[in-house]
Amino acid sequence: MNPKEFRNTMGNFATGVTVITTSKGEELIGMTANSFSSLSVDPPLILVCIDKKSTSMRAFSRDHPFAVNILQEEQEEACSGFAKKGGNKFERASYYLSETGVPVLENNMATIECTVYDILEGGDHYIITGYVQNVSYNNEKKPLLFFRGKFGSIFEDITIAAK
Ligand SMILES: Cc1cc2nc3c(=O)[nH]c(=O)nc-3n(C[C@H](O)[C@H](O)[C@H](O)COP(=O)(O)O)c2cc1C
Repeated sequence: MNPKEFRNTMGNFATGVTVITTSKGEELIGMTANSFSSLSVDPPLILVCIDKKSTSMRAFSRDHPFAVNILQEEQEEACSGFAKKGGNKFERASYYLSETGVPVLENNMATIECTVYDILEGGDHYIITGYVQNVSYNNEKKPLLFFRGKFGSIFEDITIAAK
């Protein structure tokens, strides 16, 4: 399989965008990810796939708390900021600390607070499954979308279009 062709093909699968955040001691950690999915209702599980070379990966271990920040259309800057490698990505971000000490971005479309349930092998990535502990969402916001390497947003309200 040609990696470029594989990547280009997968780019046709339009997704939302998340920033996965956590902490390790005093250090705040976050990275942009679109490999997020719901996984199970009972127990409530989600998953995200993280590159084994990602500097954020070292913060993940079983039962460790983390948050999935589902971005809305006005958070493209956060998306780009957290797609950079290493360093303190929180200097330019607006966030608060959750009860578990995990940084949560302000103005999210939705937030899912989890603890690491399992870490599975997936080729050059790890599949992190998260046990959902707390959720919140804002119906007034529109999602940030990612398609063929570009960002976009919905200009038509699909809740109206679907009627
Ligand atoms: C839209 C978008 C989606 C991304 N999705 C993922 C992903 O699902 N998993 C992943 O490991 N990296 C993903 N990345 C790349 C990481 O955000 C990037 O490698 C980042 O530098 C990792 O930071 P770290 O090395 O400090 O952990 C994505 C980047 C963008 C822009």
